[in-house]
Amino acid sequence: MAILKVARLGHPVLRRVAAPVPVPEIRRPETQRLIDDMIETMREYNGAGLAATQVHALEQIAVIEVLANPRYPDAPQIPLTVIINPIVTPLSDAMEEGWEGCLSIPDLRGMVPRHTAVRLQAYDRGGEPVDLIAKDFFARVIQHESDHLNGVVFLDRMKDLSTLTHLVEWNKYWHERRWRDRAGGAGCSPHGAARSGPPSSRPPRAARRSGEWVTEPDPRGLRPATGPARYTRLCFVNNAS
Ligand code: NI
Repeated sequence: MAILKVARLGHPVLRRVAAPVPVPEIRRPETQRLIDDMIETMREYNGAGLAATQVHALEQIAVIEVLANPRYPDAPQIPLTVIINPIVTPLSDAMEEGWEGCLSIPDLRGMVPRHTAVRLQAYDRGGEPVDLIAKDFFARVIQHESDHLNGVVFLDRMKDLSTLTHLVEWNKYWHERRWRDRAGGAGCSPHGAARSGPPSSRPPRAARRSGEWVTEPDPRGLRPATGPARYTRLCFVNNAS
């Protein structure tokens, strides 16, 4: 694996539109190596996500992970998620402002309005279809990374540049307003437990820790149009609620 060079704002590659990856090519060693390198690069620089365009690859691939991230100390955790050829559909007109940063726009944060809930249809790194509902912070990161694959950066989405701030000033002046996003599970059942779905697919409740995203059957029955039947969604576990 290798740590890749991350393009910074101003590099034209960040404004290019990535091409879809032909599904049979997802499992090719070249694609798998790129995914591995993207994961390593994201972790090296403490990113919450990384899109292929940021590492000079014009392919519709993004990786997302938030685990005890020093750049986002208060952010809800998101397990490692690889999304290929994502189609992101807002589930409502509801928008919420929240802080975003970007490895391609180092040392800056700004408040960005995003849809609070989206449906994500994509492929995982095994070439399997993914179809899930994401809410709040996870939905925000998906929208951020999906934007990258279309040549859009978070600055383009800001309604008002007055919140644009360097990290030192952000810590000094904006600390209390850091995370308006509440990871929540509207639509998810208490403690992240499934309301419905095959009992055998339910992870034991004891295995769920507060602050984790878990996959559970989607009671809406969303299914990929093709490929193996798989209808799951991610729910945020909030044992405090
Ligand atoms: Ni970014």
